[in-house]
Amino acid sequence: LPKVLARTLVEATFYNDLDASLRHAWEELSLAGRDRRHGFRNLQLASVAADGTPRIRTLVLRGVEPDTATLRVHTDRRSDKLDELRLQPRVAVHAYDPVGKLQLRMLGRAELHLDDAIADAAWAATQDMGRVCYRVLPAPGTPLSAPGEAVFATAADADPGRAHFAAVRIQLDMMEWLYLAQTGHRRARWTAADNAWHGTWLAP
Ligand SMILES: Cc1cc2nc3c(=O)[nH]c(=O)nc-3n(C[C@H](O)[C@H](O)[C@H](O)COP(=O)(O)O)c2cc1C
Repeated sequence: LPKVLARTLVEATFYNDLDASLRHAWEELSLAGRDRRHGFRNLQLASVAADGTPRIRTLVLRGVEPDTATLRVHTDRRSDKLDELRLQPRVAVHAYDPVGKLQLRMLGRAELHLDDAIADAAWAATQDMGRVCYRVLPAPGTPLSAPGEAVFATAADADPGRAHFAAVRIQLDMMEWLYLAQTGHRRARWTAADNAWHGTWLAP
């Protein structure tokens, strides 16, 4: 199928349908959790620092659970963001997929998993290439006197990276959706209350 035609067919399934638009957004997020080439794969997580100023960085989307409205990302527990999330678990998440012409702006609450079953399962699913990052010494963000000064501890039977690993689940409670189309942009917002999403169209 030519790409434009495929897109028109997909678009027709949600373009003027609020419930279908929310379902489509979660389907695309779920795809991104499995497909490294999806536009939503590298999302932006914004947190608030102790001094009240915003912080933002790119993280890989590792897992998506539409039923519980959660996203999962992985990070180093020694990183600045972990301290920020401990102090202020409210976060904003941004994702844009240029292929699907879809922007998602989300709000949620970060839940840290360090040494529990969720962190164990997330760690077990990571590849050795990804685990190397967690073996870096000194801690991420430490000033160095030379660029190559950081070292990577070698993995023994017990990977030293595991002690630095954190899975972060983000429980979403707001999703704002913007779909770009030549026939007219579509914008909507859903908020979660009483275990259900309540949505409204917005002027684009
Ligand atoms: C494409 C891309 C993907 C990234 N993925 C991750 C990731 O999954 N986890 C992570 O901790 N940092 C990731 N980073 C690095 C972060 O953006 C950030 O620089 C680092 O985590 C330090 O952030 P902090 O000092 O705010 O804690 C990624 C960066 C890029 C450019």
